[in-house]
Amino acid sequence: MNPLFLHLEEIDSTSAYIQRRFSDLPDRFFLSASFQTSGKGRGDHVWEARPGENLLCSLLLKEEATVKRGPILSLAAAVAVARTLSALGLRDIMIKWPNDILSGDKKITGILLKGCLPGYVVIGIGINANQKDFPSGYGQIPTSICLQTGKEIDIQELKQALYDELMKTLKESDENLLSTYASLDFLKGKRISFLWNDLPRVGVAKGVNEDFFLLVDTGYTLMPLSSGEVSLVRTEEPATFSSVGVE
Ligand code: BTN
Repeated sequence: MNPLFLHLEEIDSTSAYIQRRFSDLPDRFFLSASFQTSGKGRGDHVWEARPGENLLCSLLLKEEATVKRGPILSLAAAVAVARTLSALGLRDIMIKWPNDILSGDKKITGILLKGCLPGYVVIGIGINANQKDFPSGYGQIPTSICLQTGKEIDIQELKQALYDELMKTLKESDENLLSTYASLDFLKGKRISFLWNDLPRVGVAKGVNEDFFLLVDTGYTLMPLSSGEVSLVRTEEPATFSSVGVE
């Protein structure tokens, strides 16, 4: 067993655990849990996952050169998960900016980065593995490896494969990661809605820039979004541009 691995049966949140103890833990420490009593999702969301059925894990990064890569780490995590799932035979794996992993158009993995720059970053990853039904949640409809392939997966093997892929992917250049992202970009060319200065806006997603900001064409300007929720606009309207709120 890798000495950097720790598995706990139950914890509030693997990411919160590492954040509390980051100064005593080594770089690349990897914590997994069978169950989280207070799993954190993006924003104020809760990440719910049934006990023992999913991969719930967090990776601590402390090395200065790695931590300095900032938003590219979020991209590296998404690419590593996408490759891990594709290697298991899942088809149609895409990344929905910034780092939701979709199988078809359903969400199979959530990723959340927490940290205190320039000190450390914790990459928290929740892969829906063997869970077959989900309470109605937020955002994209959920799915799991089991639902997509019809087969249960060994979560230990999935964990090892993900860790190995993360280690490889973190060594890749920004350029490589960005070009891999471009081939897996779920949003590209789609109409999306988002908040800009707390005002709802719509536009067409145009890929990302070198800082991994999402570029959105509103018809007036190309807006670089650094964070926040974006949703698909599901109307049959022609793809004309509109802006809700004041330019
Ligand atoms: C999202 O909202 O899409 C991000 C979800 C991230 C969930 C994972 S599960 C392991 C780690 N611990 C947490 O509390 N959250 C992340």
